[in-house]
Amino acid sequence: MPEPARPLTVALPKGRVLDAALEALRAAGLELRLDAGERVLRHAGPDGTVIVMRNADVPTYVDLGVADVGVVGKDVLLESGSRIYEPVDLGFAACRMSLIRPVGARGVVRRVATKYPRVTAAYLARVGSTAEVVELKGNVELACLTGLADAVVDIVETGATLAANDLEEVDLLLRSSARFVVNRAALKLRAAELKPLIARLRPGVAG
Ligand code: PRP
Repeated sequence: MPEPARPLTVALPKGRVLDAALEALRAAGLELRLDAGERVLRHAGPDGTVIVMRNADVPTYVDLGVADVGVVGKDVLLESGSRIYEPVDLGFAACRMSLIRPVGARGVVRRVATKYPRVTAAYLARVGSTAEVVELKGNVELACLTGLADAVVDIVETGATLAANDLEEVDLLLRSSARFVVNRAALKLRAAELKPLIARLRPGVAG
């Protein structure tokens, strides 16, 4: 008799993307649950177990196979350097990653603050800048306002944060949106369930 399959483990980022990610997966036919209580981190459901974490940790859980699949922003995926399979652009959480400076700032950029040091260093090398990269954990725009850095690389979604702080985008590094990601071994071992799921998640495919 074949062994009963282990339930699918799904890594999702806490915060803004969580609800949209669950909605997309449910529309594709996965019955997943989110138990009440903000501090619950693991949620067992009929079609899989949802584990909730910081977005930057999703690639690690999927890469190491603790999670079979996950949802994470392209920005975070690029920064992680992970080579996990990324079969579907889910379209939501659309934003830009941009180089940002105080409105009207001109001089040479010598120091750039960011939560994305790897992507930022690659960008600076590409444009021939020798600016130093300083890693921060949040509210990166503050670095520009306080003189910690003369530019920042950060996410722009509505532009409200820039407008409120007299900052402007001076260059576009990349466009990001939420991606469905899959562990490469799981894709082979669980192909019978994952391949149809991937097909159903693709835009234009009715759930
Ligand atoms: C993100 C980003 C910007 C802001 C941009 O921050 O780092 O600060 O959103 O959005 P907007 O263009 O719609 O204003 P987030 O709220 O995720 O917090 P963090 O900076 O602490 O990570």
